[in-house]
Amino acid sequence: MGRKMVNVAVAGATGAVGNQMIACLEECDFPAQSIKLLASSRSVGKKLRFKGNEIAVEELTENSFKEIDIALFSAGGGTSKTFAPFAAKDGCVVIDNSSAWRMDPDVPLVVPEVNPHAIAQHTNKGIIANPNCSTIQMVVPLCPIHKQYSIKRIVVSTYQAVSGTGKKAIDELFDQTRALLNFQDPENNVYPHRIAFNCLPHIDVFQDNGYTKEEMKMVNETRKIFEDETIAVTATTVRVPVFYSHSESVNIETRQHVTAQQVRDLLAKTPGVKVVDDPAGNAYPLAIDAAGKDETLVGRIRQDESIDNGINMWVVADNIRKGAATNAVQIAQLLVSKYL
Ligand code: A2P
Repeated sequence: MGRKMVNVAVAGATGAVGNQMIACLEECDFPAQSIKLLASSRSVGKKLRFKGNEIAVEELTENSFKEIDIALFSAGGGTSKTFAPFAAKDGCVVIDNSSAWRMDPDVPLVVPEVNPHAIAQHTNKGIIANPNCSTIQMVVPLCPIHKQYSIKRIVVSTYQAVSGTGKKAIDELFDQTRALLNFQDPENNVYPHRIAFNCLPHIDVFQDNGYTKEEMKMVNETRKIFEDETIAVTATTVRVPVFYSHSESVNIETRQHVTAQQVRDLLAKTPGVKVVDDPAGNAYPLAIDAAGKDETLVGRIRQDESIDNGINMWVVADNIRKGAATNAVQIAQLLVSKYL
């Protein structure tokens, strides 16, 4: 019997994540019978490459999804909110990278290494949500630790790359850096403050509780993915002048005692994780090493000596790949092989 083939659409194909989605579909030899590339009217006529062919970008409309089986969306929350229901109505399954549907109780929120079984719930609304980039790379290594030693509390601080904000932010970091090195005044359009040679403790909008929406995504999405409302999470999310890969300082408190070596051994056999932890050789996860790869790098694993059952670690992954496009394409692969 031949491979099951599907018709695929990418909404937001001209963006940073959309571009990577196209590359990931190509890299994994996704069983795409056809591929439709969608963006705003501004991009109509633009051509992008898929498997050696040039494909013209079309405008995303309510009628874009007739005959499409799977649509990968990364065109912003508002666009997903408006267009995903039209895609679902036409029988297409949407895998959405925005935050629009993540906390909808009828929409599964999936990291394939953690809760692949949740994909079955795609039948509820025809939508599967891809979690926030910072959440994905944190739950991948924490999942086996939680299963074996039961995590009570997580304290996370992030150091997030500008590519998470999209193409305009990548350009802004580049332009500001060049301007400053040439003794010129940098322009500031994307973030409320200069990002070059700076750190901004502000990602997404502030909420009434003083946290940002990005920080609360890490709290709420972690609980939903782990299917555990008791897990305590507190986050501080920071934008840093890095192009690709988010880094995270992750502190956990477990119910059962666990040593740093036990965590290292467990993570060494965890799919999707690569342990890089040799302080004597100056080996630890670096943003520049994670960029362009699909693994989540974990290192600096050590006992939190301030409490009985605590571990600290440093977790780094490519936010555009595992944090977005790779995770979405992995969901699509499971969807085709097991659920369609
Ligand atoms: P376009 O390039 O035509 O503006 P990024 O996150 O890198 O900024 O990319 C955002 C992606 O979402 C782009 O592909 C962009 O298309 C697309 N997009 C933004 N707004 C809309 C919209 N209203 N309809 C369709 N696509 C949109």
